Amino acid sequence: MSFNIIGTGSAWPRCSKSNEELSQIIDTSDEWISTRTGIKSRHVSTGETITDFATEAARRALEDAGIEPGELDLIICATARGEYITPSLACLVQKRIGAHCPAFDLNAACTGFLYALDVSLCYFETDRAKKILIVAAEAMSKLLDWTDRATCVLFGDGAGAAVLSEGDGLLSIKIRASGNEEPLHIENTEGNCPFSERGAATQFLKMNGKDVYKFAVSSMCTDLQEVIRGAGLTQDDIDFVVPHQANMRIIETAKKGLSIAPEKYRYNIDRFGNTSSASVPILLDELNQAGELKKGNLLALAAFGGGLTSGACVLRW
Ligand code: ACO
Repeated sequence: MSFNIIGTGSAWPRCSKSNEELSQIIDTSDEWISTRTGIKSRHVSTGETITDFATEAARRALEDAGIEPGELDLIICATARGEYITPSLACLVQKRIGAHCPAFDLNAACTGFLYALDVSLCYFETDRAKKILIVAAEAMSKLLDWTDRATCVLFGDGAGAAVLSEGDGLLSIKIRASGNEEPLHIENTEGNCPFSERGAATQFLKMNGKDVYKFAVSSMCTDLQEVIRGAGLTQDDIDFVVPHQANMRIIETAKKGLSIAPEKYRYNIDRFGNTSSASVPILLDELNQAGELKKGNLLALAAFGGGLTSGACVLRW
């Protein structure tokens, strides 16, 4: 027994900042950002907390699925950092929507939604859940060094959610990790322990863009090829590719290593930037709400990110 996605939702902070607006406070330009990444604007939390937009995405997914919070058997939040270290974001979402099931966070950076799907599969296979809510949410704006133009222009805030129900929609899934903090990391707080011999942490995202770029392209190609083969399908069979929205050039380069027709790829990076784990479910929700996804369509999802982690899956809608 695997699962079907029976509802999706998404939400993000109201404030959207264009490249032009960033160029008024940072030494950058719309031309540099657009040509290198495809990003035109991104959402940035001002007053809202990550719990606010994670909860809103969850409510919309439940409404789309037509189920009550009380029917949920599990909530998994994929996030690099919730509102608190504890309680988890999942517990806060559980409280706000009025659910009574177990809830926990999972951190696989930008691959978090794929990791959460994989964990959910175990619950369905062992008959421990009939309905699971996944919420992938990130407040990247709080993790960035806004004096580092090489990273702060790339990311955005947002949340995407999906309700899973027992079914046979998941045809194949693969997640990977290859532990290496050099290409991308965010330091954790050091606290004020008087015995610590380490200096204060920066708590800002640090990235070697070129290394991440190479990893992203190769993992997206390898993972998609593997899950499509694993589902007993050919690349021609896929109706939609929903790739992690990190950089338009990564997707364009990966496309050349795959034989899926170019018009089957979907994007929204221009309006959201890289929302890390939230990017795949936000895009999935956009396609769902636009009525693009028809019953029986075959979807390939792929993501990659810090860890380094990557993952992909094939779903029948
Ligand atoms: N505006 C203007 N100039 C800039 C900016 C900016 N915002 N940022 C960097 N530059 C400058 C640099 O200083 C450098 O100048 P120099 O040549 O005088 O030294 C020049 O632009 C080129 O910088 P590069 O880093 O070589 O630019 P590159 O073409 O490699 O593009 C980028 C950088 C967009 C980050 C690219 O490497 C990339 O997309 N990498 C993948 C990153 C990614 O996808 N990360 C997310 C995945 S993981 C996750 O999602 C958590």
